[in-house]
Amino acid sequence: DKGNHRHFMEKEIFDQPEVISHTLGRYCDFAAERSAVADDGIDFSKISRLTIAACGTAYLSGLIGKYWIERYARLPVEIDVASEFRYRELPISDDTLALFISQSGETADTLASLRYCKEQGAKTGALVNVTGSTIAREADAVFPILAGPEISVASTKAFTCQLALMASLALRAGRERGTLSPADEKELVHALSEVPRLMSQVLHAVQPQIEKLSRELSHFHHVLYLGRGTSFPLAMEGALKLKEITYIHAEGYAAGELKHGPIALIDENMPVIVIAPHDRFFEKTVSNMQEVAARDGKIVFITDESGARASELKTMQTIVLPDMPEFIAPMVFSLPIQLLAYHTAVFMGTDADQPRNLAKAVTVE
Ligand code: F6R
Repeated sequence: DKGNHRHFMEKEIFDQPEVISHTLGRYCDFAAERSAVADDGIDFSKISRLTIAACGTAYLSGLIGKYWIERYARLPVEIDVASEFRYRELPISDDTLALFISQSGETADTLASLRYCKEQGAKTGALVNVTGSTIAREADAVFPILAGPEISVASTKAFTCQLALMASLALRAGRERGTLSPADEKELVHALSEVPRLMSQVLHAVQPQIEKLSRELSHFHHVLYLGRGTSFPLAMEGALKLKEITYIHAEGYAAGELKHGPIALIDENMPVIVIAPHDRFFEKTVSNMQEVAARDGKIVFITDESGARASELKTMQTIVLPDMPEFIAPMVFSLPIQLLAYHTAVFMGTDADQPRNLAKAVTVE
């Protein structure tokens, strides 16, 4: 049931404050201000390497998880798209934990990657939305993302719930490994508790502006998304969402890679969507933005209040989110990115829920 919404995708975007609070409530103990204790048989202090395999949007949530797990749990994370992972013959030791992220739990390449790791003796964990799925059944430990049924082919709420779960797991791993102090854990868990409220606020605040921007964006044939740190996978997610449902060619790049190639494409016909909360990387991303501006690229600047104050560049549009801790930004910044793809599809008249050539679960290789 779509409720008052035109498409499932729109409904699922607006479901996010509620469903992410379920995910966070399961994996964090907000009363104790720490990540939740779990009896899934995994002890992160006994693990020396984490490997992740997934496809599409699930792969991109894993990539953001890698930044968090390496930073807070000091655990090296190796991640690959499952279609490559399954044939790479990755050497695996028995202190490797292998995680598989899949909304449907049925993706053929992700399942094959899981089977490979099991054969090699790794401990396996499945981050799934569909808990009765094959991937959930075959993994040693199951972590439900609790997003509720996702009908729209383009993944939205599953992505942010995957992020909520990865964020909580990173904190738990940090505690178990002794790399995260109780004070830091408390502060980060508190930040997570703010996500649902910030999401509701942003969903309502940015909607009219994004609708207007979608009209402008629909005239272009190519769009580039840039970001640094956790905003880099988010840039790739923005590009994936746009190309899936609007058929506009889009690419996501690490902002620092701009001068290693893509800058050659920049002219007045190239909109560049820059995702830059006012974090450790902000100044560097702004200098990339200046390089775009100097070549007449059309900038869409997605930032927060501090970021908007700190940059004086002329942009095609600046979307301003509230200030928030760096840790939770990927979850909240997902919203303008999803809405932008959605409204562009609606404006262009493509089918947002059922994009051509795509299926919700890819059960063949
Ligand atoms: C993107 C999208 C796909 C899926 C991918 C993995 O919006 O929906 O890229 O994320 O096919 O699917 P699951 O998570 O079911 O393994």
